[in-house]
This record gives sequence, C-alpha cells and structure tokens, in this order.
Amino acid sequence: MVGIFGCVLKDGNAAPVIYSALKRLEYRGYDSAGEATTHKNKLFVKKDKGRIDEIHTRHDLNDLPGRIGIGHVRWATHGAPLRENAHPHIDCNKQIAVVHNGIIENFTELKKELEDLGHIFKSKTDTEVIPHLIEENIKKGLPFIEATRETINRLEGSYAIAVVYVKEPDKIVCVQKESSLTIGVAENAAYPASDIPTFLPLTKRAVAVENQEFAIVSDGKYEIRKITDWSLVPREPKLIKWVPEKAEKLGYRHFMLKEIHDQPSSIHNTLRLQDQYLELMTAFLARTKEVFLVACGTSYHACLAASYMLSRLAFLSTHPVAASEFIEQQGRSISIDSTILAVSQSGETTDTLAAVEHARLHAATILGLTNAIGSTLTRVSRVYICPQSGPEVGVAATKTFTSQLCVLAQLALRLAKQRGKVSHTEMEWLEEKMDQIPDAVETIIQTQEEKIEQIARKYRDTEFFLFSGRGISLATALEGTLKLLETNYIPSMTFPAGEKEHGPIRLVEQGFPVVFICPRDETHKKIVNDIREMKDRGAPIIAIIEEGDEEIKALADDYIEIVKGMPEILSPILCVIPLQLFAYYMAVERELDPDRPRHLTKAVTVK
Ligand code: G6P
Repeated sequence: MVGIFGCVLKDGNAAPVIYSALKRLEYRGYDSAGEATTHKNKLFVKKDKGRIDEIHTRHDLNDLPGRIGIGHVRWATHGAPLRENAHPHIDCNKQIAVVHNGIIENFTELKKELEDLGHIFKSKTDTEVIPHLIEENIKKGLPFIEATRETINRLEGSYAIAVVYVKEPDKIVCVQKESSLTIGVAENAAYPASDIPTFLPLTKRAVAVENQEFAIVSDGKYEIRKITDWSLVPREPKLIKWVPEKAEKLGYRHFMLKEIHDQPSSIHNTLRLQDQYLELMTAFLARTKEVFLVACGTSYHACLAASYMLSRLAFLSTHPVAASEFIEQQGRSISIDSTILAVSQSGETTDTLAAVEHARLHAATILGLTNAIGSTLTRVSRVYICPQSGPEVGVAATKTFTSQLCVLAQLALRLAKQRGKVSHTEMEWLEEKMDQIPDAVETIIQTQEEKIEQIARKYRDTEFFLFSGRGISLATALEGTLKLLETNYIPSMTFPAGEKEHGPIRLVEQGFPVVFICPRDETHKKIVNDIREMKDRGAPIIAIIEEGDEEIKALADDYIEIVKGMPEILSPILCVIPLQLFAYYMAVERELDPDRPRHLTKAVTVK
C-alpha cells in the first residue's frame, strides 16, 4: 500500500511526469517504487527497492517511452521490500501492468487458482493476482474493460487500482473500493492518483472517484461508472484550493490530526488482516510456557493493554516489560520455554531490538508486531504481523497505536476461542463489536472533536495534569499522558486509581486537573468513588465516559463521550481517541508544532 499515480498525456513523455509525481508522494514514507509505461504495443517497467532518488540513479526513471503510464510508491504489507515485490505488477505475457493501494483479502485463494491454471507469480504480494486475473479474462475473450470489471468482481478487500494494457494504449483503467482515488484533469492530460498533492502542481481541477466506482481515463477525458450496475456517473471536476504544504496533509493542518482522522480506515484495514497470520501467531502463544510483551513508549502501552486482554479473555498470564528494562529484569530467566512478543511501530527501536537479541541468544521464540515490513524486527521474528495502518508521519504515534491494539485484541480473541474460554454467544458478540470499532471511532471524532477543542482552550495554561484509570484503562491513561507530554511538554503523571492513597493524592489540589478514563466496565463503581475523592480535594475532573453516563456527568467538570456498549477489552481503542485529540488541540492552543516535538524522534535508534 501507499500511493498510486497515473498519467495520460495527449503528447509528450509520461515517465518524467510520473517520476516527479512519485517524488511528491515521498513524504508519506515508502520502501520501494516503480513505474510502467506502454508504447508501440510494448510494456516498459522500472522498479526497485529503496529511496526514489536511489532507484532513479540506478535505473533512470525518466527513461521509459510512451505518453501513458502508471507509478507507485510502496509500503510493504504483503511481502518484504524487495524489487520483485515493488509495483507495478504484470501478467505472464508482459502486456498488463497494475499498481494498487489497499489490500486484497482473498489473494491466497485467487493465487492458488491462477497457479493451477499455469500462471507464474514473481512476487509475494496480494496485488499480483490482479494482472493475472485480467490476463485470464482477456484469454476468455473479454475486452480489456470487461476483463478488468470481471476481475474486480472476484476481489475482496479495499483497493485503488490503476491498470494499463498494451493493446489499448490510449487509456488507464482505475477502480476504487474503500481507498481514495481522485483524477486530476488538465487540458490535454489526466492524472488518476490516490493523493491530490501528487498532481497538484500539474492541475488544480480534480474529480473524485467514489467508493465502488470504475474510471476510464484517457487524455483530458474521463468516464466514471458504478461497478455494481455499470451506470454512468456524471461528475464535474472541482477546483482544489489547497496550498501545497496543506495538500500533503490532505487539507489537515498537521499530520498528527490527519493521522487521528485516518483511524476509522486504518482500523478497518487492520481488522481485515489475513487469518493465516493471526492463526500462526496464536498457535505460538498457545503452546508457550511464558510470554513477555516487550516494547517502548506507545507500543509499550499497547503491550500493557494486551496483558489485560490476554488474561481476561484467554486466561493467559503475560509479562509486559519496558524494553529498556527487559535484560535487567528478566534476562536471566529467559529460556527455550519463553516467548517474546515484541511490539514496535518502526521495528527498529534499539532497546526493543536489544531485548529481542538477548532473548534470541537464549533460544526464546520471537514474535513481532510492527508497522514496517523489512525492518530488523521482521527479520529476527519467527512470525510477524504488520497491522494495516500504513506509514505514520507524525512523531507522536496515533493510528499505529490503535492498529496495534486491534491486532492484539484479535490474538486474544483467537486464543480464547482455541482454549475454549469464551462461549459461542460471547465470541459472536465480541466479533460483532470488533467490526463496529471503525464506525465507533468515526462517531467519536465527528461528535466530540469540537468539544475537545474547547476543553483544550479552557485548560491551555494548566501546569500539571494527572491521568488515572483502573483495569485496562490504566494503559489508556498512560498513553494519554504520553501524548500530552510528547506534544505539550506539560508535566503529567499517571497513577492507577487504586493507588491514589499511596502517594498521588498528596498532589491533588485546586487547579490540577485529573483526567479519568471511565468506560462502563467492572471498575466503574470504584472509579466513581475515585472521582468523588479527587473532586472533594478541589481537583477539576475531566472524564472520558460512555454516552449517557449521567452519574459521572454530574461529577465531572468536563466530559467527553465515547460510543456506549463496547466490551471492556476494546475500550482503549475508543477511549484513546479523545486523549489524542486533546493532546493535539492543547499543542495548537499553546502554539506548539505537534508534528515536530522537541527532543523527540519517530524511532529511537540510539542507546
Ligand atoms: C519513540 C517515539 C514514540 C514511540 C517509541 C517506540 O519514543 O517518539 O512515539 O512510541 O519510540 O517506538 P516503536 O517504533 O518501537 O514503536
């Protein structure tokens, strides 16, 4: 996944236009890139792993003939970042080239079916099934567009796709299902792309291709049709007024805000992870004697939440350990009977890798959960899973955290099922609730964002915050604290609500707000009492509550509501959204740049 671009020129050479467009997609993060053009009945493809400039130095990306072509920058989700896995992907006869952003969920079955028919696959990607399916349909006598349409009917998942075919060299065929696609329209050219900034310097006129639509793009013209009934969709281009800097962020002021808003879709994609990866990792967790959940920063908070999920659902006791402490705390007890599940957005954090290396030398089993296929963590893991959140640009982790939580919850659910720890009815309910998370996150953003902005304005000059929760909400509280620290440099502290008497209560006084995370789970009654105690000492209370929680509404000075009725183990995924938005708007109010916090880097790769 990451970004696609297409170029149809009336005259001229498409390759240099594609190369510069790919450079404009660089900011999103990627590990490989490529281009394909058609010319005189032939397909020309150049692709490789690495930075675009490196690939250009090796292959000269300006040097492909033809006025029509497609390009791609890739962030690996299926298959390592290698040349053969880079897009475009082609069919057996080198006549069809495809670039794709998204996931094809049923690619394993399709690939098997195509291999049985004699198709040769060169990559480990899900995308490669598309050119082979189109090839197969053309072989059956279907014209190009029909063959592509027929192919789309076989695909499950989400995708923005652009296809070229040497025998119909005047067009690019594009399809959109739950993955953004817009066509830049110019006088004598058209540019279908997953991101508006890619074509913005070329044209400011753009027409959106919406969900379940097909677009046939030829020089300066486009035809949009509904996939379902093939009806024509009349849609005029609109003028894009974004300045380039804002365009990169798709109209958002900061990457952090964009990535918070990305979460309904990044979670949706992550929930569609292929069963085989989850099954395999569950199998390792099921047979081990002891599991250590090891990570730093935000990823450590995901581990802490996972320890509650695994224990409460699957009755598996685990040890969440901050990676920097792992060797000191657990080093000597690690053996062949231990399993380390290392969680790291970047897959490159030094402390996490050092813990993993130590465990490896003691013959432990290493499992990895990382956003970066091809990272060191994926190389040293026996099994790894890559959540489908896409690259994250903002230094403060947001969408990668909720995606990590989704994968960890899925693992807990599977393990519970395997161990016979949950009833059939409960399992169905949990699965149903899990599917509702993307919509629930969307609702929280839609209904609460403005209110959170106001709350941030009210507390902008606060000098000290306390965060608290019980049970799994402790992990959420820790993450809320970290977000505020990272982006605002405000001294903040988290304490388990039950520990208040053992110190923290001494800090409570007028003017120091306490942020309580209060989903309606088994801890609710106790949290109500905790709030009362803090309130009696004059602390302003900000509460994250479920809709309609009148009891806490009456106590809190400010409250933010999340969708009600979510199972306890999924509550951090929802409760953290207001905390991310709160940290973001606090930074904006305080005129700080949330995308570039001082003294912080996205991945800590030094000791
Ligand atoms: C740094 C980043 C944090 C991140 C942590 C762990 O501290 O600033 O945002 O949570 O590293 O990074 P990882 O890539 O291992 O998840």
